[in-house]
Amino acid sequence: MAMIPKEKVEEVKDRTSIVSVISEYVPLKQRGRNFVGLCPFHSEKTPSFSVSEEKKIYYCFGCNATGNVIGFVMEKDGLDFPEAVRMLAKRSGVVITEEKVGVKKEGDAISNALKAAEEYFVKSLALGVGAQAREYLKRRGFGGDVIAGFRLGFAPDAWEGLTGSLKSLNIPLEAAEKAGLVIKKERGHYDRFRGRLIFPITDLRGRTIGFGGRVIGPGEPKYLNSPETAFFKKGETLYGFFQAKQAIMKEGYAIVVEGYFDALAMHKSGFKNTVATMGTALTAGHLRSLKGYATSVYTLFDSDAAGVNAAIRSLGLFLDEGFFCRAITLDSGKDPDEFLGVKGADGMKRAIAEAEPLMEFFLKRAMKGVGIKTPEGKAKYLDAVMPYLAKVKNVAERGHYAAFAASILAIPPALIYDELGRNAGSGGMPAARRVAVNHAQSHLEETVILRVILKHPEYFDERVEAAFEAFNDPGLKEAGAAAAGFLKDGGAINVSALLDGLIDPAVKARIAALILKDPDGFLEDPKRMLEDSLKRVLNRGKLKEHTEARIKRLEFAGRGDVADAVYPKDRFKKRAT
Ligand code: UTP
Ligand code: MN
Repeated sequence: MAMIPKEKVEEVKDRTSIVSVISEYVPLKQRGRNFVGLCPFHSEKTPSFSVSEEKKIYYCFGCNATGNVIGFVMEKDGLDFPEAVRMLAKRSGVVITEEKVGVKKEGDAISNALKAAEEYFVKSLALGVGAQAREYLKRRGFGGDVIAGFRLGFAPDAWEGLTGSLKSLNIPLEAAEKAGLVIKKERGHYDRFRGRLIFPITDLRGRTIGFGGRVIGPGEPKYLNSPETAFFKKGETLYGFFQAKQAIMKEGYAIVVEGYFDALAMHKSGFKNTVATMGTALTAGHLRSLKGYATSVYTLFDSDAAGVNAAIRSLGLFLDEGFFCRAITLDSGKDPDEFLGVKGADGMKRAIAEAEPLMEFFLKRAMKGVGIKTPEGKAKYLDAVMPYLAKVKNVAERGHYAAFAASILAIPPALIYDELGRNAGSGGMPAARRVAVNHAQSHLEETVILRVILKHPEYFDERVEAAFEAFNDPGLKEAGAAAAGFLKDGGAINVSALLDGLIDPAVKARIAALILKDPDGFLEDPKRMLEDSLKRVLNRGKLKEHTEARIKRLEFAGRGDVADAVYPKDRFKKRAT
């Protein structure tokens, strides 16, 4: 693939309406100069997602997601950078001329083989040879809709069915072998999938990356899957994600089941936000692929002991990756497909509504068999659950679960909070608060300067530049330097390019918030605000010397307590370093 020239990328950004692109994913309403809507990157009830046509960026005040239109479609459609640029270029009529690369990439050859194989399987299911497989699907309750939506297929029971078809299409068998479609023997190749119902496994864009195949009727192994390849990793791929993507964004949560047929049955019954792992445990890779689409995950594992254990085992993963998680438990039928057969969509709806937070599910389970009424049992229980409680990042949530555990133990919740505080290490919580307070006091003026300059670049001069350099806050400093770069180069600040240049996502989010916060101006005279803040920042060095000298005198006089009371912020700084 060829490189896209930088000017072309800029042209695409310029010619694309970010508002109209994002509107295709989420409804936006105009508010002032910006457009607002429900954030497509996290689940929320009141809109905090803001898009600026003028600045060509988006920002969510809820989850801090930010970027330009290219980043948006990369994130939402799972495209890589060149793909996103090409897609938008096409849309806005920008012509990108490709420099043809001499050798066709191996990756392309493998993709072609996968695509041809899928077509072969789909066709086989529709033809006479697929009658038995169609009958099997029908018996299990699946018809044309599901077959088409998931592009189900059939691999005829032959040694050189697909192999022959690929040959006739001049698709190199080496590529097919790398894709795991054919197996090499001494002379020639033979089909991996024979006499099986075929489930194409796709990436986020719907491109086929592998297959699962089920025997029709009894037989071993029940399912045969493509081997792992460079682009098919079971531990990162969720079956049905492509089909579920829109529904997951809409619902704000994804339901994760364990099997191909469970996913099909859920979709058929209207639970289109369902994806499946493929017989492996849920991994961090799976969860990362859900990021940006869902903030919560509902596990819907088999109702047997193995399923329950799998759900509990995934708890740490959810906590580490920062997802809310609920466990759906089914009271009849071993798996979701069977449950739907017995209880129908209404039964499933009820089960989903009753799904418990996975943490509570775990906290209840963990009390079984430890003798929770005895002191020894309580100690055991606390040891078991403590590591999980400590992993909950949100304070309110952590408090909730700590209280839940306390009620199981029949002890005061305060004891659990204490224990959590102790585990958190040195001094626990105040450290974070200290930084925040410090930050707020010392960097207000820096924020003002940056805001005024972003809004009124005409005020930029050498003093502003000097102030940028004297900023304490590394994020603001980086943004200031970037802004100065633009202004010195001769004029306008390109906000979206400025954001692109910031590497740390946290910094990026803060600057985007700053830019979009109150686009309609300042309460006070910006020039005055700028002057005041400039003075404070530029004089800070001197002030600091004064203060430090004073603190030293007080301490020398044995009045460290007074110094503490009068100069809290500087004292914190002293302690921190
Ligand atoms: P299950 O054995 O629970 O099968 O495996 P299932 O999904 O209920 O299938 P049906 O309803 O009998 O057709 C769950 C998942 O584990 C993977 C598959 O992804 C399957 O959907 N699996 C299972 C394999 O990869 N290989 C196997 O041999 C069995
Ligand atoms: Mn099943």
